[in-house]
Amino acid sequence: MSKRRRLIVANWKMYGRLTSGLVLARDIAELAQSDRPLPFDLVLCPPATLTWAVGEALQGTPVVLGGQDCHTATHGAYTGDLSAAMFVDLGCRYIILGHSERRYGHGESSELVAQKVEAAQLAGLTTIVCVGETAADLQAGATAEIIEKQVRESLPKNVKTSNLVIAYEPVWAIGTGQQPSPEDVIVVHKLIRKVLGEIGETVRVIYGGSVTPANAGTLLREDEIDGVLVGSASLNAEGFWAIAATCQQGS
Ligand code: PGA
Repeated sequence: MSKRRRLIVANWKMYGRLTSGLVLARDIAELAQSDRPLPFDLVLCPPATLTWAVGEALQGTPVVLGGQDCHTATHGAYTGDLSAAMFVDLGCRYIILGHSERRYGHGESSELVAQKVEAAQLAGLTTIVCVGETAADLQAGATAEIIEKQVRESLPKNVKTSNLVIAYEPVWAIGTGQQPSPEDVIVVHKLIRKVLGEIGETVRVIYGGSVTPANAGTLLREDEIDGVLVGSASLNAEGFWAIAATCQQGS
């Protein structure tokens, strides 16, 4: 059994309109309600447009609200951006930062991610910091080097370890149906803990990339894998709950 409390996170990305998002949130909350108190943390990160409505739907349920990305500043003339404090206002407790769709799709550097982590933690959010190698990195045998560099550079000096989660998400595994073996994931998770140093054993390190109800069990039975970050499979309430329930069986 894992020493750390398991964490199951839904990353809805840019999916969900008001009606469909609310139905999904309510369905997940209903499944979670039937099983309270939850022996793990269950977090939904809807697109920002749905944060308020989903937050309302989750009131009084054991499901927690999170956001996807934020700006480094608390406020200012930043058209189209949202601050960590704004997510806190809406009831968020977690935020995903440094996702590869931000790093590669929006050119975000690890230095910028570190600034975002600092801002989000100052606002009181728990930061889910994503790291992961590309297919080219993997082929070049550079996974360890890339992960080490991203972990070191994506965290601020004064990082609050109680508010820190690292998500290992190989870029080549996201949305592709491909996945490293649990053994390969464990190697990387151990490396991440080593890079984190003395805090390594307390920080939750979760895995993301093509997690489904069919493969969640083999990942979540491993002590080294403290949870999962789920993209497309989190858009189906039963499927997402099945992933979370696997984690319970494994605990
Ligand atoms: P996926 O996405 O589960 O659809 O592969 C995971 C993620 O990008 O967080």
